[in-house]
Amino acid sequence: MPTRTDTIFEKFLAPVFRTFLLNQEDLERFYKSLDWDAATTRLSHPAVTYPDYYRNANFHGIEGGYLTTGAAVTYDPITQYALPPGESLVRQAAIATLQTQPRRILDLGCGTGTGTLMLKQAFPSAEVVGLDLSPYMLVVAEHKAAQAGVEVQWRHGLAEQTGLPDGAFDLVTISLVFHETPPAIAKAILRESYRLLTVGGEVLVLDGSQRVLRQADWLTNIFEEPYIHDYAAGSVDAWMGAAGFGAVQTQDIWWVHQATRGVKPLSRTVEFTRPEANLQEVTGWALG
Ligand SMILES: C[S@@+](CC[C@H](N)C(=O)[O-])C[C@H]1O[C@@H](n2cnc3c(N)ncnc32)[C@H](O)[C@@H]1O
Repeated sequence: MPTRTDTIFEKFLAPVFRTFLLNQEDLERFYKSLDWDAATTRLSHPAVTYPDYYRNANFHGIEGGYLTTGAAVTYDPITQYALPPGESLVRQAAIATLQTQPRRILDLGCGTGTGTLMLKQAFPSAEVVGLDLSPYMLVVAEHKAAQAGVEVQWRHGLAEQTGLPDGAFDLVTISLVFHETPPAIAKAILRESYRLLTVGGEVLVLDGSQRVLRQADWLTNIFEEPYIHDYAAGSVDAWMGAAGFGAVQTQDIWWVHQATRGVKPLSRTVEFTRPEANLQEVTGWALG
């Protein structure tokens, strides 16, 4: 688990986490309880390649980012403190903004699956798929689902290019991913979500409040997140609208988080870039 030592996180916060909040023996025991080689081999998709923005970034100050067992083992113990006033409260509040009863759910960038499992528990009859680019995170997710006796399909892949069929889902969720991806990738993930959703399907993005992060620059400097400044400067609302979603609304969750929800509308607004173009030329529909 190679770790950079020159970051604010490593200098000030990591010692606090290591000394008071993380139980090293528990982490070690958990690490040793899993057969990482067998599980990562089984869960890895051979065609997946890692883009530079992901492979070269040291999320949370851990060198190698999510492509390490260290990131996967420490993710849950750290995240429980990273979502004030409480991880479950925040995740539940986001789920509560949904307005439909989904039957096929896709959780993009599902990580260790905490939110994915909560979705399955909220909608027990739904089929749920969790997709992530890190096989190590998926190993932990799969283990947690087995422990909880919950059926979820885990898939290794790129959220912006999943290879899954058009209109296959009626809910796509993306939690705590966009503050860790360049905005161009967040926008591409929303376009992919639009493609994957059926008409009337919902997309839900839970993440840090962009408004609060803009006002509190010191917050964005604390955690070693390479893209958080760009995330703070942007607008998930606007990105969702640009991807084609309608009824887009952002709701504050416990002041420092936000949940943005949108719906895939009946038909995309047709933009008549050539005023003389008729509906059939623009949409490709054969009329009459
Ligand atoms: C901060 S974690 C969030 C995990 C989970 N969604 C949650 O709410 O706890 C970010 C996750 O997004 C994944 N990720 C980042 N970029 C991705 C991409 N382009 N495609 C798929 N997964 C990605 C990372 O591997 C990591 O597991």
